[in-house]
Amino acid sequence: MRPPVVLSRGKHSFLVEKFEGKLHTHHGVIELSELKGKSFGDTIKTHIGVEYKIVPFNLSGFFKHFRRGATPVMPKDIGAIIAYTGLSPDSLIFDAGTGSGMLAAYLAYFNKFGEVVTVEIRKEFAKIARRNFKLAGLKNVHQIIGDAVEVADGFKKEFDLVVLDMKDDIAFIPKAKQILKVGGALAVYNPYIEPAREVYEVMSKNEFRELEAFEILRIDLDIKRVGTRTSTGVWHTGYIVIGRKY
Ligand SMILES: C[S@@+](CC[C@H](N)C(=O)[O-])C[C@H]1O[C@@H](n2cnc3c(N)ncnc32)[C@H](O)[C@@H]1O
Repeated sequence: MRPPVVLSRGKHSFLVEKFEGKLHTHHGVIELSELKGKSFGDTIKTHIGVEYKIVPFNLSGFFKHFRRGATPVMPKDIGAIIAYTGLSPDSLIFDAGTGSGMLAAYLAYFNKFGEVVTVEIRKEFAKIARRNFKLAGLKNVHQIIGDAVEVADGFKKEFDLVVLDMKDDIAFIPKAKQILKVGGALAVYNPYIEPAREVYEVMSKNEFRELEAFEILRIDLDIKRVGTRTSTGVWHTGYIVIGRKY
């Protein structure tokens, strides 16, 4: 067992990147050197004897444990982008902008035999994303620092999927058309309705086909001893527009 690993107890979990030093938990202190020689499924005790389970760091932990720079896309929306664009595992993907690298990391994970090119204009966000990609052990993500609208000019009609989650998404739409293969998909994520509508209209003008615009709502259940009911919080995040180049 090598780092990173996750120490989990109920709702609490900690990502451990080095097996050295002390980890301060809600239930006391853990000596991380004691992790050496342990296996997944084993437990480790805090100084007051509370046990944490040692589990692998995997995809379900990306959202919880990735460092945050810019606001990341949430897994429910990433799932929809993957399913509705029909991502195949040997794709070439263009992701703009990288932000925290959340969307790029999930796409890279499911695109095992392909590559993700991700472009970010701000160096400090690119640095955070680089750490996240390394943490996740992803080797098929290629980071470019620059303006995605300009970077796109360096590519040909080679991408299977373009995903946009950045301010200049409207300016990027004609570029997306240029760099997508025939049959390739463009997915644009936007936190507000008005820009999502504009994206839809501009994609339509640029002759993207099979256009669809939607929102994915996740509604949690509160599961309590007295009974189960719908949580009062509605998890709105943003709007997704998807179209294809034919
Ligand atoms: C909301 S964040 C993206 C979050 C990302 N999709 C994720 O899941 O972690 C938007 C990012 O786009 C970047 N950005 C804005 N305009 C850009 C441009 N023209 N080219 C490249 N990146 C840009 C911003 O700096 C910011 O980091």
